[in-house]
Parts: sequence; C-alpha cells; structure tokens
Amino acid sequence: MINAFLFDLDGVLVDTAGFHYQAWRRMANSLGFDFTHEFNETLKGVSRMDSLNRILDLGRVKLSEEQKLILAAQKNSWYLELVNQMTPADILPGVNAFLEQTKRAGIRTALGSVSKNAPLILERVGMTGLFDAVIDGTKITNSKPDPEVFLKGADELNVPAAQCIVFEDAVAGIEAAKRAGMFALGIGTPDVLTEADLVVPSLEHLTVAELLAAVDKAQG
Ligand code: G6P
Ligand code: MG
Repeated sequence: MINAFLFDLDGVLVDTAGFHYQAWRRMANSLGFDFTHEFNETLKGVSRMDSLNRILDLGRVKLSEEQKLILAAQKNSWYLELVNQMTPADILPGVNAFLEQTKRAGIRTALGSVSKNAPLILERVGMTGLFDAVIDGTKITNSKPDPEVFLKGADELNVPAAQCIVFEDAVAGIEAAKRAGMFALGIGTPDVLTEADLVVPSLEHLTVAELLAAVDKAQG
C-alpha cells in the first residue's frame, strides 16, 4: 500500500540539474580543468560543499576552507543567474499532470531535496505550497546518499517508509531511498540508475495508476 510520494527537485520536477552542471563546469574551467558528463552524474544529489570538494579533488586543486567558501558562493551566483530566468514553463514535461493525478488519488506529497535553493526554485516555477511537506538543504545535516532527507519527509507526512515512493534522477538519491527502506523510482536510464526498483525516462508517459500497479507487482 503506497500512501506518499517523495519528489527530488533538480532533474525530476525541473531541469536545474543542467544548470548545476553548467555552473560547476564554469568554475572548474576558471581553475583550468574540465569534467565530463559521467563525472557530473556522481555530483547529483550531493550538497554544494561536498560537490565542490569532489571537483577540486578531480582537478587536484588544494585550497583553504576560506577559499572554498568563496568558490562555492561564486558557483551559486552563476547558478542563480540561470535559476532567476526560470518560469513555470521550466517544469519538466508530464510533471503537472502527474501531480494532479497524485492529489486526486489522495496520495500525500513531499519534496526531498538537498538544495538550499529549493524554496526559490519552487517560487520561480509557481510550485510553492503544492507539497504537503518540503524538506530542503536548510533542514538536513547529511546530503544524499544519506537517507535523512527522505526519512524526514516521511516523518513530516506521518507515513511509514514502506508506504513511500521516491522519485529520483541521481545515483546518490536512489541509494538514499533504498537506505530509507522506500521504493525507488529512477527518472533517467537504467544503465546509470542501476539500483532503482524501476526506471522511466521521464514522468511524461507514466500515470499514477500505472506506477502503483508496477509497484504492486514488484512487491508481490
Ligand atoms: C541537489 C542537486 C545537487 C546540488 C545540491 C545542492 O541535490 O542535485 O547537484 O549540489 O542540490 O544544491 P544547492 O542549490 O544548495 O547548491
Ligand atoms: Mg536530482
């Protein structure tokens, strides 16, 4: 029995995953190196400072904590230049219809994002107030793959973990969902999201009824 859907934000509801990639690359390029799309997959769902440390390790750049904070702020301001141009047209295909079906089915919803910018993004795309609970980067101490963000979401909704489906585009997010004891729906490709219980390319061609039937079947 499924009673709650927990949605990641970046790359699931809106295409800000591409904005993070652009802004981090701009920062890496300014330090004289670059990174690939494959490496970027390992950054998804990972907090700002953890992402920065991984990128600096890749480029073998050693900096003081103070210099790191300056770089993280620079990346965030480049990222926000892109976020500030967002409108409701930036909601990913199929998301609005899927959320309407979710409400009609009486399923509770939470946002589960590691991003500290989540409230701003929700506001830009007109989604503020749409979720029964919002857990963002300001409310957690551990980023994905730690399950904290999803456990807090389920807790706020008062729904047991086994009755939750997590919607995730990140390898770290799928791991967080599994560690939380939840069904993990991957949004992307099965070769990347290998640990997901089910993978779809987007929410565009999925209905709530189809998803619930698939989960029923998977859970026997
Ligand atoms: C999400 C994204 C990550 C990002 C993290 C922190 O999990 O998938 O790419 O690093 O949020 O985002 P923030 O907006 O707080 O820098
Ligand atoms: Mg994501």
